[in-house]
Amino acid sequence: MPGAATVPEAGLAEAALEQQFERTIARDQRVEPRDWVPDAYRATMVRQIAQHAHSEIIGMQPEGTWITRAPSLRRKAILLAKVQDEAGHGLYLYSACETLGADRADLTGWLISGRQKYSSIFNYPALSFADTGVIGWLVDGAAICNQVPLCRCSYGPYARAMIRICKEESFHQRQGYEQLMTMMNGTAAQQEMVQGAVDRWWWPSLMMFGPPDAASPNTAQSMAWKIKRHTNDELRQRFVDMTVPQAEALGVRLPDPDLRWNPTRGHHDFGAPDWAEFRQVVGGNGPCNAQRVAHRKAAHEAGAWVREAAAAHAAKQAARDGAVA
Ligand SMILES: [Fe+2]
Ligand SMILES: [Fe+2]
Repeated sequence: MPGAATVPEAGLAEAALEQQFERTIARDQRVEPRDWVPDAYRATMVRQIAQHAHSEIIGMQPEGTWITRAPSLRRKAILLAKVQDEAGHGLYLYSACETLGADRADLTGWLISGRQKYSSIFNYPALSFADTGVIGWLVDGAAICNQVPLCRCSYGPYARAMIRICKEESFHQRQGYEQLMTMMNGTAAQQEMVQGAVDRWWWPSLMMFGPPDAASPNTAQSMAWKIKRHTNDELRQRFVDMTVPQAEALGVRLPDPDLRWNPTRGHHDFGAPDWAEFRQVVGGNGPCNAQRVAHRKAAHEAGAWVREAAAAHAAKQAARDGAVA
């Protein structure tokens, strides 16, 4: 029976490939697109990178609504550049996801149909111009805490995309802080506007790190695969410790009565976010979930003619090249 040996051989080959994968991870080397990976690793990476890409794209909406209403040409130009950066991040990340065999059109379809998620934070509305500054300071600040360790993620294309993205996020954080500093040096009404925005965004920003470690069942596997380097609670603590002195310098109150320095731990103690609210927002029932997805869907449908034109142009080009050859 000539075919009989193929099954054990295939099993052997798979075991050797798995060993190779484990060795790559243990040596802290990068996994590259052509390398064999366990199916679960591929599925986890596709899900994480897609969710990240979707977050960048949906994340353009809360601030995007303020581009036409920003109070000066300078502020409009800054905001426009920032929102464009987020589009760029989305594009890098969709490309990184494609190296794992994912199809870009499928990913967009899964975002629009609600099969794949994006960060819960972008389901909150930006109610005043101060919100754009607070989003830069707190939301981009939290994103940096999450994403800097991802520059050492075991999947090479994701880790490399993250290096440039983190540089731009850090610029976003500073521009937000600079905007808030300007407003805090302004009128009492401007100062109140900033405080109101901080009150609205503080708790949703803490939720960006995900549920507490005890309720985060995927963390252990992601850490074993060196996709994730720190737990949700470690990153949340880092963000709070980093942000408290910035809030003091700015002259705003963080809306948490339990927030205080703990000299024994060498960290700030702080209250728990409302996890019931978090589950509601992740489950699709936040203040803006329906609006965010509807807007993305409308933009995708309105762009159909661009995709058709690009495909027609590519086909024409290919036919011309074929004719020349
Ligand atoms: Fe971004
Ligand atoms: Fe950003």
